[in-house]
Amino acid sequence: MNKTSPRPLPASIDGTVDLLAEADYLADRSLGTVLYLALKMGRPIFLEGEAGVGKTEIAKVLAATLGRRLIRLQCYEGLDIAAAVYEWNYAAQMIAIRAAEAEGEHDRERLEHDVFSERFLIKRPLLQALEADTAGAPVLLIDEIDRTDEAFEAFLLEVLADFQVTIPELGTVKAEHTPIVVITSNRTREVHDALKRRCLYHWVGYPSAERELAIVRAKVPGVSKRLSEQVVGFVQGAWRRRNARLGRRAFRTRRHRARSSDGVRYARRAPKISGRHRAARGLQGQGPARSGEVGAESGGVIYRSCTS
Ligand SMILES: Nc1ncnc2c1ncn2[C@@H]1O[C@H](COP(=O)(O)OP(=O)(O)OP(=O)(O)O)[C@@H](O)[C@H]1O
Ligand SMILES: [Mg+2]
Repeated sequence: MNKTSPRPLPASIDGTVDLLAEADYLADRSLGTVLYLALKMGRPIFLEGEAGVGKTEIAKVLAATLGRRLIRLQCYEGLDIAAAVYEWNYAAQMIAIRAAEAEGEHDRERLEHDVFSERFLIKRPLLQALEADTAGAPVLLIDEIDRTDEAFEAFLLEVLADFQVTIPELGTVKAEHTPIVVITSNRTREVHDALKRRCLYHWVGYPSAERELAIVRAKVPGVSKRLSEQVVGFVQGAWRRRNARLGRRAFRTRRHRARSSDGVRYARRAPKISGRHRAARGLQGQGPARSGEVGAESGGVIYRSCTS
């Protein structure tokens, strides 16, 4: 997927669906509608769904097709302002202070002023997203927000309300153009309603067999009809089995949560089903597959378990 030169935002729902299709992302109309509205209204998009359904890809495709910079904030437990917004480069500040002292500079105020300047500021994704860009507002991907804790979520709420951050030593940095914000969550915990209210929400579901087939064919040009159908048949079957298993497990998870004294914040992550395009690509040219062979040959590729 090549980055194109900056382009205006799509002017219709169909235009949005077509834009994504340019980068082989096949969106249904409900997703196209939410994206179109979010882009038009300048509101963040909150995408929730199971692992592997294409949430992260939407931000990547938007950035590539609109010709915008993609800035990614990967969330994890313990993510703080130093990793998400900015931090001072203490080592460089120390060296600058020593060098100034060696040159006979002892004016404390002046030293302080010099070392707390932009030159010593390490800009992290949220701050980068507020900066002006000649290509237009960047796409800010806040990926897997459900992995962070609630304190960070509250901080994010403030940033998304005004698109500005205050650095005590420097002042307030405000975005000239509102970035296109895409937030994803695998729903391993509930994200606070206050955050969802700031966004346009969309649940990204599993694609139907028909759409899945179209995705595989778009991603693996020239793949045989038989192989693509077998790969899709296997994945759809795995999803069905997985849903049935999760339905049974949900009851046990709720009981476990109820018993825990400090509250279990993260449910076990669901097994992830992905890699069907890689599987189809890898199996291409291997001759006609026999019944059951797709699952066997691609074991560990099509179906991998993710418990992090
Ligand atoms: N509608 C679609 N059109 C084209 N490709 C798709 C579509 N949905 C999913 N994919 C493909 O599926 C793969 C997984 O997508 P992605 O990594 O975005 O999933 P995710 O929902 O972010 O998963 P995770 O929660 O594990 O991060 C990518 O290769 C992506 O291109
Ligand atoms: Mg993702």
